[in-house]
Amino acid sequence: MNTNSLVGIDDLSRAELTELLTRASYFEAHPNSKLLEGKVVATLFFEPSTRTRLSFETAVNRLGGRVIGFSDASTSSTSKGETLKDTIKMVSNYADLIVMRHYLEGSAQYATEVTEVPIVNAGDGANQHPSQTMLDLYSILKTQGTLDGLTITMVGDLKYGRTVHSLVTALRHFGPRFHFVSCPELRMPERYLELCRENGIEFEEHTEFSESVINDSDIIYMTRVQGERFSDPMEYERVKNLYTLRNSMLANSKENVRILHPLPRVNEIDRDVDENAKAYYFEQARNGLYARQAIITKALGIDPTEK
Ligand code: CP
Repeated sequence: MNTNSLVGIDDLSRAELTELLTRASYFEAHPNSKLLEGKVVATLFFEPSTRTRLSFETAVNRLGGRVIGFSDASTSSTSKGETLKDTIKMVSNYADLIVMRHYLEGSAQYATEVTEVPIVNAGDGANQHPSQTMLDLYSILKTQGTLDGLTITMVGDLKYGRTVHSLVTALRHFGPRFHFVSCPELRMPERYLELCRENGIEFEEHTEFSESVINDSDIIYMTRVQGERFSDPMEYERVKNLYTLRNSMLANSKENVRILHPLPRVNEIDRDVDENAKAYYFEQARNGLYARQAIITKALGIDPTEK
């Protein structure tokens, strides 16, 4: 197992998170370099992706490295019955780093156990999405000027949404207050509520996405209902459109509130919010490039300021 792997955001201390954010800031100022010259990064996506895969691949390209991999596992030998273990061992023969998205919770951890090549978890089922969290933290830091003591409202699919699971876990180092807005079926799992309790973090659960919650927020983090994780399609149909943020709902919100969404969105944010200066989700996705450059160089043991 390579100790430079990034499997879960809980593996990182406040100091390590802060160091990665400083790196991301460096890469925002210096996105193009030859830091990865001679390095090969594999991107193995067993689940669909636009932002995560393309921003990881752009990150490698802008750092002068090379990318191999697949965006559709049906074109790989997985479709012939090759196991995840064998796939990882094979790709380890070719790549210096493996970025992997897989539909099984715990798959990234498992991958670290069968290779010495560092693994970066690009999303494992409904479990975690740590590189998303780094770009979310970077976006929050850039827009709020601090990560400490903020009121963060998370809305939508808090049960299956791996981005909110990772973000709650990371923010426990920064003394937040949370509003969790969801229907009862998609509540934040108990283990994350317990994490808040253990860390003395104040949180309130709501079923109504009310004006008072919106107006109390520094960050509103909207999420898509993860249809692909439901076993019952009827249940998905019933809950998929419960929460939509519209521009009029922001009329009395804080001047500096910012709307985040990991994207893709479906109906969670009305298009009429896009032109509001408080909408930040497209910039948030751009920050993914810098956050992922930070993660890649850290995993490969490269200090950007030393070359
Ligand atoms: N936020 C996110 O993970 O987007 P993709 O599924 O497009 O990678």
